[in-house]
Amino acid sequence: MERELERIKEREPAMFDRVLEQSHQLLKDEKKHAASFPHVIKFQDIPWTQGAQAFHKHLIRGPALDMPYNTGIRSMVALEQILAPSGRSGRHRHYFEAMFYILEGEGYEIHDGKRYDWQQGDIAMVPTYTVHQHFNTDPKASARLFYIIPGIFRFMGISETEQIELHINYRVPDGATPIYGDGNRFTGYRTGDGKEFFFGLDEPLQKMMDDMKAMAELVGEPKDDYERVMKQLAEENEWRGRVPRTVRPSQLPWQNTRMGKIKYLVHPRLGSALRTIESFLQELPPGGASGKHLHVGEELHLVLEGKGYDIHDGVRWDWEKEDMVAIPINTVHQHFNADPKNPALFLSVQSRLFDLVGHGGVRHLEDAPGASLTQANAWP
Ligand SMILES: [Fe+2]
Ligand SMILES: [Fe+2]
Repeated sequence: MERELERIKEREPAMFDRVLEQSHQLLKDEKKHAASFPHVIKFQDIPWTQGAQAFHKHLIRGPALDMPYNTGIRSMVALEQILAPSGRSGRHRHYFEAMFYILEGEGYEIHDGKRYDWQQGDIAMVPTYTVHQHFNTDPKASARLFYIIPGIFRFMGISETEQIELHINYRVPDGATPIYGDGNRFTGYRTGDGKEFFFGLDEPLQKMMDDMKAMAELVGEPKDDYERVMKQLAEENEWRGRVPRTVRPSQLPWQNTRMGKIKYLVHPRLGSALRTIESFLQELPPGGASGKHLHVGEELHLVLEGKGYDIHDGVRWDWEKEDMVAIPINTVHQHFNADPKNPALFLSVQSRLFDLVGHGGVRHLEDAPGASLTQANAWP
């Protein structure tokens, strides 16, 4: 029997929603909120704490760390950790990816059972859904690792961390009772008010992910768009298995750009293991400056050497070695080396989430003083 479709006419409203007003208010509140934060975070102002993974500092904070924001940066959080001589971090897995910059020391990663060595100045990249752990191979000296985690995974509902091995110094909260499982294994704890918390792998999730990995690969070319999407799963699994996990900056070229002397370390065009983060080193000559530019996306700097200042939308922010500089969305910025004798060096990390929503690239406003452009060494 044929059913007649009723064409619904626009009716006289009975209820009025306030979404537009709310979004205007939200925008105003967010601008006020962002403007209330400093653009430079001093290393010494952040305390060291012991977590399940590491002895660390939460430098750039946000909901991804279960902490309120401390800068205008939303898309990334940043930490630093210390690995004791011959020490190791906790072993765990999460969907969110992470980028590590080795500030001091030498050691290695174990990612899904495979070893990747690193030394001072290297980048280590942890791709999504990888069991990982960091090891310091030096029996006498500590290793120091700076790292960035994208902030978006919490909002996507995939921020869970599966803890497999706890850091040796980790302790359950005061008043909690440890819970022991099979073979007297420490598996979790019960808090004073009766809440239970368990470590370990999420077995149903692991089974689902293993089944996805084990999926038979589509033979031949995809016959339609749906098969193309099927093939993407196999291609991404294969990519995760083979992608390099470390970058050695000494093997990459400096480029003299309009923005200044830059060396790209992490970017999809360099075959990196990360999708949501890109990173480069920048050196400012003694008494020199970078170019001036603007981009929608957020940027963080870790100052590696020297001292100087940034101008962000006309406001000066002084920085020195170990500081973090936070450049919020849509900020005109330029970097200055205040030392007339020595170069300054910083690591820039930018969120690629802005690129993914169609707001990548830069609006270049002013060349770095004395910029002489490199013609060679550009990306293919
Ligand atoms: Fe991790
Ligand atoms: Fe920038």
